[in-house]
Amino acid sequence: METLKCCISLYGYVMFLFLTTLSTGSACEAPSSPQCFRKNVAATEYMCEWSMNTTESDVTFDLYIECFHSKKKFRGIKKTWLEITEEELIKSRPVNISVEAHEGSSSCTSPIRTVVLQHTVKYEVPQNISVSWSTNNLSLIWNAAEKHPAAAEVWFRPDERPTESWGRILTNATYRYTTYKTLVYQVTVVNLLKHTPYHVRIRHRSTQALNSLWSNWSPVVMVPTEIEHEPEVNMTTTHLNGTRKVTLTWKPMPHAAAIGGVTYILNDTQSSHGCPCVKKHLHNVTKHTADMYVSYSAVNISVIARNAAGYSRPAIIQVPAKPPADLKTCDQTLVKNTKNCQEWYELQDGESRPENVITLTAKTEEKHREEIKNIQLKDYIRYLYFEHKCEARKPQTVTMCLFYKKEGAPCEKPQDFIAFSETGSSANLSWRAIPLVNQRGFLTHYRLCSMKINPGDEPKDLVSSDCHNISATLTKYHLGNLTPGSKYNVSLAGVTRVGEGPEATVTIITLPETPVNVWLSLGLLIVFFLITILCAIILKRIKTNILPPVPTPVILDFEPYQPESQMVEGKEEVHELMLLRQHPEGKSVSVDAEGTTVLQEEWGDGTAEDVENERGDSSMSGGSSDESLDSTDEVPKSSREEEIIDLEAVENEIAMLIYRNGLVFDLKTDMT
Ligand SMILES: *[C@@H]1O[C@H](CO)[C@@H](O)[C@H](O)[C@H]1NC(C)=O
Ligand SMILES: *[C@@H]1O[C@H](CO)[C@@H](O)[C@H](O)[C@H]1NC(C)=O
Ligand SMILES: *[C@@H]1O[C@H](CO)[C@@H](O)[C@H](O)[C@H]1NC(C)=O
Ligand SMILES: *[C@@H]1O[C@H](CO)[C@@H](O)[C@H](O)[C@H]1NC(C)=O
Ligand SMILES: *[C@@H]1O[C@H](CO)[C@@H](O)[C@H](O)[C@H]1NC(C)=O
Ligand SMILES: *[C@@H]1O[C@H](CO)[C@@H](O)[C@H](O)[C@H]1NC(C)=O
Ligand SMILES: *[C@@H]1O[C@H](CO)[C@@H](O)[C@H](O)[C@H]1NC(C)=O
Ligand SMILES: *[C@@H]1O[C@H](CO)[C@@H](O)[C@H](O)[C@H]1NC(C)=O
Repeated sequence: METLKCCISLYGYVMFLFLTTLSTGSACEAPSSPQCFRKNVAATEYMCEWSMNTTESDVTFDLYIECFHSKKKFRGIKKTWLEITEEELIKSRPVNISVEAHEGSSSCTSPIRTVVLQHTVKYEVPQNISVSWSTNNLSLIWNAAEKHPAAAEVWFRPDERPTESWGRILTNATYRYTTYKTLVYQVTVVNLLKHTPYHVRIRHRSTQALNSLWSNWSPVVMVPTEIEHEPEVNMTTTHLNGTRKVTLTWKPMPHAAAIGGVTYILNDTQSSHGCPCVKKHLHNVTKHTADMYVSYSAVNISVIARNAAGYSRPAIIQVPAKPPADLKTCDQTLVKNTKNCQEWYELQDGESRPENVITLTAKTEEKHREEIKNIQLKDYIRYLYFEHKCEARKPQTVTMCLFYKKEGAPCEKPQDFIAFSETGSSANLSWRAIPLVNQRGFLTHYRLCSMKINPGDEPKDLVSSDCHNISATLTKYHLGNLTPGSKYNVSLAGVTRVGEGPEATVTIITLPETPVNVWLSLGLLIVFFLITILCAIILKRIKTNILPPVPTPVILDFEPYQPESQMVEGKEEVHELMLLRQHPEGKSVSVDAEGTTVLQEEWGDGTAEDVENERGDSSMSGGSSDESLDSTDEVPKSSREEEIIDLEAVENEIAMLIYRNGLVFDLKTDMT
């Protein structure tokens, strides 16, 4: 039993080996049945293709196309496809197509396919697919196979969810011509997610052919989002002997926009003008930094980011001109005799306006150069002139200077010409420069003239004007050596090599004297005046207090000469006063009061108020204090003793009053 078992298993093993050897050695895996088709309905070429799984490299195929008795053979094909022209084929009737593979010693035949060749169309795989966003709608454009609408199948899925199943749409693609005269199909996939990158693939087929086959699938296209912002570019500039190296760096684009790759397109206005170096290709970079070489004249560099979905707005980097601080006047012969690239920037009050630039490239022919210079360069206009050459494919500025095609005299006078701070012998002048457009040439200097005008002089007499040349860079001037108290006409005019422009004039009148003396005199006058007043007051005081005025003559005069004078009443009162002098011994209060009243009347100018204050005033004059006065008032209400003492004080007071008025001076002296 065991032997039999063994024998069976051995037999089986041998059989297995035999069969294996047979299958690998003598038989082959059959190729797929061939597809024969045209690329579009108008094509005259037919394509037949098939596939076969094999590890062998040396396989040949025979293609058979049969129609009833006629059989067409295409032998010894080394590829898995064959192009056949329509003449070799039966197109309008159904044909049987098969392929036979020869692999080593074995051969195998594919299944037979029956088709009408004329009706069979298979488009090529969609090519040159471009995408663009319109908000949430994605528009897909690819090269069209023919001038007919096509059916299209689009698969799409968001980039961040690669495991998600494809979204699918079957749609009709419209055809149209692009601006570059390319025939394209277009479909729009609507309502996709905003700001989301997608993966997309497409296939298409004819809507015309009776037997239209789907094309192969396009490769998966990475659809980035739109680039919303222009690149953020930083610039550093290094100066290298006439050349400027501009290093630009920028931030990478956000991931969603960078899917599928971003390239940056750099361009500059200098090379696009071809002055001085011509660039044939745009400068495309995938890095985030680039070096550019520019000349010393103004240049704009633009950086545009591009991805599969489109372009960013350009980032414009303006690199201003770099003229030296001290620009010289151009040497006309050098400007004339050069074949380098030349630029003239029209200057308007120091600012160059790039729209008014005349550029001659190195390519401009000699006769055209002269013509352009003659026609385009204007007379009397100041230009900033540059000359560049292209040195080792880098622009280099060789000359920078200020240029006039033709100079003229200024057509405008200096602005805002005024005189100020005039003194007896000098005055300050100030003005603003003549506007650049009106200078019409290089100002060599200003001509400043001053002319003295005497009031009586006729204009013809005024021949002597004093002129001198002052620097063209000045805007103020100190004019000296003038005669005090005179009138001058001062004029100022700009002068170029060609001549003198219109004059600005100002009239100055110098001060009659040096102001220092005037002020001093005035000051002294005031001081003197003040001192005089002060002295007068002091003297009056002294006079009143120490050297009283002649009282005796008053009395003497009074009695003999002036009986009818105003003092008539006063005369009578004097007598009463003399009576009063007797009373103090009698110590009569009433008399005292009476006397006081009398005194008041005697002055002749008293009012009721004055009477009340009389005592106060008097006591003050006599040096008594306010307190003593108050006590005097209270005397009548107090004791008798106090009254007596007070009476004495009152008496003294009266005496003083008398003294003060001087009228009774004699009486007083008698009393003492
Ligand atoms: C080749 O093999 C693959 C799998 O290995 C199969 O899917 C395909 O159909 C085969 N092709 C042919 C022509 O047999
Ligand atoms: C399509 O793209 C290829 C390269 O991918 C290019 O050579 C060809 O010119 C493009 N064709 C059209 C019509 O744009
Ligand atoms: C997107 O497509 C839909 C359907 O065609 C349309 O109604 C809509 O206006 C489109 N949106 C934009 C922004 O074009
Ligand atoms: C495509 O257009 C054909 C007619 O030209 C129409 O019958 C068909 O329904 C359309 N297909 C789609 C998916 O719109
Ligand atoms: C700068 O350029 C001038 C003119 O091209 C040349 O003569 C000079 O040698 C250069 N100097 C340097 C330092 O390269
Ligand atoms: C640079 O760009 C600015 C702004 O667009 C423009 O005014 C200027 O003329 C440009 N300069 C040059 C040299 O092109
Ligand atoms: C002033 O300039 C004129 C030329 O405009 C010249 O003839 C004259 O000699 C100059 N005068 C002085 C004082 O330098
Ligand atoms: C002086 O200037 C005044 C005003 O600018 C002018 O009217 C007058 O004629 C001038 N005199 C002379 C002598 O130039």
